[in-house]
Amino acid sequence: MQGKNILLAVSGGIAVYKAVSLTSKLTQAGANVKVMMTPHSTEFVPPLSFQVLSRNDVYTDTFVEKNASVVAHIDLADWADLVIVAPATANLIAKMANGIADDMVSTTLLATEAPIWLAPAMNVHMINHPAVKRNLDQLYKDGVRFIEPEEGYLACGYIGRGRLEEPEKIIARIREHFEQESSRLLGKKVLVTAGGTRENLDPVRYLTNRSSGKMGSRIAEEAMLRGALVTLVTTIRELPVNEKIDVRYVDSADEMYQVVIAEQKKQDAFIMAAAVADYTPIEVSEHKIKKQGDEFVVKMKRTKDILAEVGQTKTNEQVVIGFAAETRDVEAGAKQKLATKKADLIVANNVLTEGAGFGTDTNVVTFYFANGKQMELPLQDKRDVAKKLIDEIETLLGLN
Ligand code: CTP
Repeated sequence: MQGKNILLAVSGGIAVYKAVSLTSKLTQAGANVKVMMTPHSTEFVPPLSFQVLSRNDVYTDTFVEKNASVVAHIDLADWADLVIVAPATANLIAKMANGIADDMVSTTLLATEAPIWLAPAMNVHMINHPAVKRNLDQLYKDGVRFIEPEEGYLACGYIGRGRLEEPEKIIARIREHFEQESSRLLGKKVLVTAGGTRENLDPVRYLTNRSSGKMGSRIAEEAMLRGALVTLVTTIRELPVNEKIDVRYVDSADEMYQVVIAEQKKQDAFIMAAAVADYTPIEVSEHKIKKQGDEFVVKMKRTKDILAEVGQTKTNEQVVIGFAAETRDVEAGAKQKLATKKADLIVANNVLTEGAGFGTDTNVVTFYFANGKQMELPLQDKRDVAKKLIDEIETLLGLN
């Protein structure tokens, strides 16, 4: 944080008072802080509060140019190493998502090339409104990063998502950003598979599984944040993907196989988080299958094991990670996969454990390493599991 130029954009909501405390804490942590405010936010807290705490001028109006030698919004945009938008109101989020620049804050946000961290704060019904969700999705795709609101008491009396994250947590996230930015994963190529494959029976039916692709998405995102060049091969089209990630959509195990194998030589690390079908129908009917009799038998054949092929043919420099979703004998299943698929590490979980199943935002996993080491992680957010996994991958790649 020391010596970093942080631009804080403040928009008009009751949570502005937390931005005051955030300014003070950022300054104490050694950052150079400049603050810009929307006119509405000045109704809650006067600019003077931010000026005193940041020891810098506060910017509220595009047309007030205090220093004739520069254009303020461009100068500020270029000065920033990082921008925090806190609190981010629904209105400012909508402007950002649509490239509207009609005041000092929105214009500077459009002019900056610095990473933007956005901390939304609004009523729970507002944050769940389809328009706001759509705008947040767009910003996510545009590369804006989020400090998500936690659950808590909202000023309007509702309990739920929408409350501005506490200044300490915002600071912790920003510190992490600067650590990630200097990560040694910079420039490394990482391929992640995610989601459950779909095996067609006929033009209207397919066989699949419950995998949501969330774990793989979190891993891809974490690797991207640490500077890796990430290829995400996924079956899930519903999750937003950051524009810096090279996403390849596939459906079947065979399609996933083709994409991964074509990429095999270029990659430094493979993380196979997809739930790939072990079998696929031998015949895919050209026309919709009509019902006949009391039983219906589908003849299936084995798919190619992508993880096994990549593991068995990997070079000494490549790192290969597999997943094992079990319902019993987790350790035995993981160790057997380590051996047969020649992975460096298997991430195993019992999908029957609460908080570890498919589709959840949390996971309970154990890392089994090829060298016999084990690491048991308690219940935690999939994002935190992803961080710990990437830490281990950095070590396996010899980067730590
Ligand atoms: N995997 C793969 N290609 C396949 C099958 C699985 O890459 N055709 C990968 C998955 O992405 C995951 C790991 O292998 O990383 C899971 O192993 P898998 O053999 O699918 O597990 P199960 O089918 O559950 O194992 P088993 O039936 O042997 O218990």
